Amino acid sequence: MLKDQFFLRIPGPTPIPPSVERAMSRPMIGHRDQSMDELISGLIPRLKPLFGTRGAVYVLAGSGTLALETAIVNVTNAEDAVLHLVTGAFGERFYRIALGQGRRAIAHHIEWGQAIDPDDVRRLLREHPDVRAVVATHSETSTGVLNPIADIARIVREHSDALFIVDAVSSLGGTPVEMDAWGVDAVATGSQKALMSPPGLAIVALGERAQKARDHIAAPRFYTDLRQYEKSLAESTVPFTPAVNLLFALDQALELIHSEGLPNVFARHLRMRDMTRAALKALGIPLLADDEVASPTVTAIKPTRFTPKALREAVRREFGVVFAAGQGKIANDIFRIGHMGYMSEADVLQYLAALEVAAKRLDPEISLGAGIRAAMEVALG
Ligand SMILES: Cc1ncc(COP(=O)(O)O)c(C=O)c1O
Repeated sequence: MLKDQFFLRIPGPTPIPPSVERAMSRPMIGHRDQSMDELISGLIPRLKPLFGTRGAVYVLAGSGTLALETAIVNVTNAEDAVLHLVTGAFGERFYRIALGQGRRAIAHHIEWGQAIDPDDVRRLLREHPDVRAVVATHSETSTGVLNPIADIARIVREHSDALFIVDAVSSLGGTPVEMDAWGVDAVATGSQKALMSPPGLAIVALGERAQKARDHIAAPRFYTDLRQYEKSLAESTVPFTPAVNLLFALDQALELIHSEGLPNVFARHLRMRDMTRAALKALGIPLLADDEVASPTVTAIKPTRFTPKALREAVRREFGVVFAAGQGKIANDIFRIGHMGYMSEADVLQYLAALEVAAKRLDPEISLGAGIRAAMEVALG
C-alpha cells in the first residue's frame, strides 16, 4: 500500500474536491473589505436552496455542534420545555446541548436503527402541551436512519404552536431539505459532510416564525446571538472575524454543487446508497436500518460472522480504505460507511471491492464478487 494513500469513507469529514482545496489557498482578505461583502452576498443566496428556505441563513465559525446550540439558544428561552426525538448519538447530543443551556429538555428515546414514528409525535405533543420546541435529527449519522421530517413537521404544526428544529448536519446537501414547504422552523448543519468543505463552519437557517422568536427571546447568548449576524447581513458582512479560508472553500463547493444541479446531486447520493446496500445484502452482511428509512448519505452495517473492528482494520491495512466505527451504545456492534459529498459511484465500486476482499479473508463463506456485481447492477440502472 502507498504510504500516503488513503480513502476517507467515513460520514464526515469527507474528501475535499481539488478546486475547493485550491480555493482555500487564495490570499487572505480583510473581513471589513469589499471582497468579503461580495463573498458573503454570493454565499447566502446559494445556500438557501439547499435548506429549501426563503428565510435567513447564517454562517458561524464552529463545528456542527455549534450550529445545534445556536439554533436552540436563538429560538427558545431558558427553562422552556423542549421535546427531543432521540434516534441515536446525535439526537442525544442535541438533548444534552438543550440541558446544558438550561432548557427543560424531554427526551423521547427511539430504538437505535429505527426512525421516528410521526404518530408517536402526535401522542407526545398531547402529553406535553407546553413544549416550546420539538427537536429531531434528519439523517442520524450514528445509525444511518433518515427520519421522516416532512411528516413530523406537519404533525407539529397541526397539534401545537411549538417550533420545529432539525439537525441536518449529515443530510443537507446530500438529500432534499425543504424547510418552507415542510414547515420546519430552524435547521442546523456543518460544512464537513455533504457540503464537501473542511470542518469548521456552522450554518443555521431560520424560517419566518423562528426569526420572530430570535428577536423576542431573552436567553443569554453572545457569539451565537443571531440578531448580530442578521444586522451584519443587512450590510453583506459578518459581526466577527469569520473563518475566511473556509468561506472560500464553501463558495467553491457551492459552485460545484449548483453546476451539477441539486436534483443530480440528490440522485447521485441515492445511487451510492442503493449500490452499497445492494452489495451488502448480496454478501449476506446485515444492515442496521431498513430500506424504507435508509439515509442517502451514511450506511451502518452490523456484521455477525466477524467483528466490525476486524473488518475496518482489514480494509484500512490492505487498501487504505477508512470506514467509521459505531458510536455510543452500539459503538462495537456496527461500522459505518459515509457516501456523501465529493464521492461518486466509482468510489462506491472501489470501497465495495475492498470490503469484499477483507470480508472474504474474515469469513470464507463470503461469495467473492456477489456484492460488487449487485452494486454494478444498480449502477447499470
Ligand atoms: C447528525 C449530526 N449532528 C451533529 C453532529 C456534530 O457535528 P460536529 O462534530 O461538527 O460538531 C454530527 C457530526 O458528525 C452529525 O453527524
